[in-house]
Amino acid sequence: FNYPLPANEPVLQYAPGSPEKIALKKALAAAKKKPIDVPMYIGSKTVKTGKKIAMRPPHEKAHILGYFNMGDEQHVKQAIDAALKAKESWANMPWEDRAHIFLKAADLLATKYRGAINACTMLGQSKNAYQAEIDSACELIDFLRFNVHFLSEIYRQQPVSAPGIHNRMEWRPLEGFVLAITPFNFTAIAGNLPTSAAMCGNVVVWKPANSQVYAAQMIMRILQEAGLPDGVINLIYVDGPKLGKICFTHPDFAGVHFTGSTGVFNSMWATIGKNMGTYKSYPRIVGETGGKDFVMIHKSADVDVAVTALARGAFEYQGQKCSAASRAYIPSNLAPAIKTKLIAALQTMNMGSVEDFTNFINAVIDEKSFDKIAAYIDEAKKDRKATIIAGGNYDKTIGYFIEPTVIEAKDPKYVTMCEEIFGPVLTIYVYDADAFEETMAVLDATSPYALTGCILAQDRDAVVLATAKLRNAAGNFYINDKPTGAVVGQQPFGGARASGTNDKAGSMINLYRWLSARTIKETF
Ligand code: NAD
Ligand code: ALA
Repeated sequence: FNYPLPANEPVLQYAPGSPEKIALKKALAAAKKKPIDVPMYIGSKTVKTGKKIAMRPPHEKAHILGYFNMGDEQHVKQAIDAALKAKESWANMPWEDRAHIFLKAADLLATKYRGAINACTMLGQSKNAYQAEIDSACELIDFLRFNVHFLSEIYRQQPVSAPGIHNRMEWRPLEGFVLAITPFNFTAIAGNLPTSAAMCGNVVVWKPANSQVYAAQMIMRILQEAGLPDGVINLIYVDGPKLGKICFTHPDFAGVHFTGSTGVFNSMWATIGKNMGTYKSYPRIVGETGGKDFVMIHKSADVDVAVTALARGAFEYQGQKCSAASRAYIPSNLAPAIKTKLIAALQTMNMGSVEDFTNFINAVIDEKSFDKIAAYIDEAKKDRKATIIAGGNYDKTIGYFIEPTVIEAKDPKYVTMCEEIFGPVLTIYVYDADAFEETMAVLDATSPYALTGCILAQDRDAVVLATAKLRNAAGNFYINDKPTGAVVGQQPFGGARASGTNDKAGSMINLYRWLSARTIKETF
C-alpha cells in the first residue's frame, strides 16, 4: 500500500480572535487550573509510585502544573517485559493497520489536541506560542505523516527475481526492544524517537527528560486514543544511570534512539561497548547530540539578512534549539552596521511569561541550565578577551530569565566561541574582511561539533567556496538563511562529528536503522 508524500502541516498564525488562539487560550487556562498526577504507562497499566516530582513552568516556578511519578529499576524491567510481550502481535500487525494508528495520531494533534499539546509545550518547556506551534503541532505531525510515507517507500524496495527464482526482502523490525531517550527542548523530537522505531514494528521503552514529562504524557495519551496497542511504547520516568544499568545489560536490547548532549551519548556508547557479547544482535546506536552552530558572514552579505539570521537564529526559544546559532564570524567592513542593528533588534524582544503572547523571550529550562549560562556570562564580564555588547543580565526570582546576550570575543578561540552553552548567548568575532578563507579554517577547527551552520553572502563565488570549505562543519548547511527551523521532508535534520550519528530525523536514513532486512529466495 502506497502512502503518497504528504504536504507539510500549515503553521497557524494565532491572530487575535482566531479560532486557534481561542482554543489555545482555553487550553492554557485548563492546564493551569488543576495540578495533574502523571503516571508511567507500562503495558496496559498506569503506574503511580508515590514518589512525586513537581512539574513547574520555568517562567513561573511558584506554580505547580502537576506531579509525575518517578520510577526505578523495577519499572524499567516491567517496561521491557511489557514491550517484549507486545512484540509478536505488533510485528505481525499488517503495515496498513500500524500506519493508520500514527496517521490518526497526527490528525488528532492537528485538530482535537492542537491547543492542548501546544499549551503543554508552552507551560512545561517555556516556549512561546509560535515556537510551540512549529514544534509540538507542525513538526510532530509532519514526523508522523512523512515517516509513514517514507516507510511505505522502503517496504516497496524489492530485489530483482530471475527465471525460476523469486527473491524478496522482508523488512523486519529489530529483534528485541528499542530504547528511546528524549531531550527537553523539542516536543516533536520527543514524539518522533519512540514513534519512528515503533512504526517499523519495534516495541519501545521511552524515557523523556524530566523537564519534558508534561508534554510527553500528552503525546502518550494521544497515541493511545489513536489505537496504539498496550506495550508497544512504554513511557517511564527514571534516572538515566538506573535506566542504563537495566537496559544496557539486557540480552534483548536492540538499539537506542537518543537525542541529547554529547557527553551522555558518549557514556552510553561506552557502556554498550563494554557489554558487547550480552546482546543477541549488534545494537543500533543512533544519537543526535550537541552543537556549536555557526553563522559565517561574507563581506558581500546583505546586512539585514545577517541581522535577522543572528537575532532569530540565536535567540528563538532562548537559544535552546540544538540548531541555534551560537557563534558568528562578522567581516570588518559590515561589523559596525551589523552590531548596531543587532543590538537594536534585541531591544525589541520582550521577555516574560509565555501567556503574554507578545513575549519573544521566555525562561531557560531549569536552575541548572540557568546557573551554567550565567557562569559563562559572568566569566565574559571579567575576561579582557571578551566584551558584552548586548544583554548580560539575568534573574531567577520568578522564573529562569536571561536577557539575550551578545559577547564580542577578541579571539576566535575564546571559550564561548567553542563550547556549547545552550542558552540565549551569541558570541561574535569580527574578522578582517579579506581573511574569509582563513577564518573559515578557524571556524572548522575550533569546535568538535558539526550540527548546523550558515553562510551569508551575495557573492556566488563566496557561497561556492564556503560550501566546499565547510563541507564537514555542519550536517545542515544553510545559504542566506538562519541555521534553525529545519522542516520535516524539506531539510532532513542531523549532524556529524560530536553532533551525532547523522541519521537524519524524519527521513528514510533514520527509518532504515530500525529495520533488519531478511532476504528470502524461493526456487521453483
Ligand atoms: P541531556 O543529555 O541532559 O538529556 C537527554 C536525555 O538523556 C534526557 O532524557 C536525560 O534524562 C537522559 N539522560 C541523562 N543522563 C543519562 C544517562 N546517564 N543515561 C541515560 N539517559 C540519560 O540533554 P538535554 O539537556 O535534555 O538536551 C539538550 C542537549 O540535547 C543539547 O546538548 C542539545 O544540543 C542536544 N540536542 C541535540 C539535537 C540534535 O538533533 N542534534 C536535538 C535536540 C537537542
Ligand atoms: N527543526 C528544528 C530546527 O531545525 C530541530 O531548529
